[in-house]
Amino acid sequence: MSKVYFIGAGPGDPDLITVKGRKIIEEADVIIYAGSLVNPEVINCRKEKSEVYNSAKMTLEEIIDITKESIYEGKKIARVHTGDPSIYGAIREQMDKLDKLGIDYEVIPGVSSFVASAAVLKKEFTLPGVSQTVICTRLEGRTPVPEKENLESLASHKASMAIFLSVHMIDRVVEKLKKHYDEDTPVAVVQRATWEDEKIVEGTLKDIEKKVKEANITKTAQILVGNFLGNKYELSKLYDKNFSHEYRSAKK
Ligand SMILES: C[S@@+](CC[C@H](N)C(=O)[O-])C[C@H]1O[C@@H](n2cnc3c(N)ncnc32)[C@H](O)[C@@H]1O
Repeated sequence: MSKVYFIGAGPGDPDLITVKGRKIIEEADVIIYAGSLVNPEVINCRKEKSEVYNSAKMTLEEIIDITKESIYEGKKIARVHTGDPSIYGAIREQMDKLDKLGIDYEVIPGVSSFVASAAVLKKEFTLPGVSQTVICTRLEGRTPVPEKENLESLASHKASMAIFLSVHMIDRVVEKLKKHYDEDTPVAVVQRATWEDEKIVEGTLKDIEKKVKEANITKTAQILVGNFLGNKYELSKLYDKNFSHEYRSAKK
């Protein structure tokens, strides 16, 4: 029996899909892609005869029906998600349905938009002496967030943070973060990271709300928060000449 491939398309730039993901799209008979966020250029490499479906317009049942029929016809399926499918990708419910139907699948990871945003800002989330933890989260929307994970309590760690799906509620995000982070904590908002029309707004918790509103950023953005966006940190032990590890001895 043929297989379903869940593929992370990356954040936008069509060259940011993995080589493995692209090869599968090239060979796929059926492509079901998340048209609301996946750059259509990512599937330009497909076979001329491939069938293409935009999952933005489909229900879970419709996606599974197409998948099931295509698999029974021996077709190879590329199910293309934005960024990495394991983050707000709603793939678990699809995989569980495929398990029940006895349909085989594989997941090909992708570049998530939060790491793509750090890349375009040329920043490192895990700076020594600043933070060694990255929190990926969101404000509650139609999907609830468990109470113990509310933004305010996550903010109490003052870790590096990537906030998805929430830029339209930037006022509430800032209000909750300010309960723990200092007002001068740096914040960067990156809209459509790696797309040609990418927009970046940088500020602090004091002024980011105003700047985001002035820039008219209301969706498809990452809110990155924390002192990792600043300039104070300690040098790593990894490249410290006085420090030995498995691959290198300390220089005398
Ligand atoms: C449904 S989630 C999907 C996340 C995706 N699986 C990932 O790994 O990036 C959609 C949210 O991801 C973020 N997002 C997706 N693509 C983005 C991009 N190119 N730049 C900035 N944020 C992006 C936004 O917060 C958007 O509201």
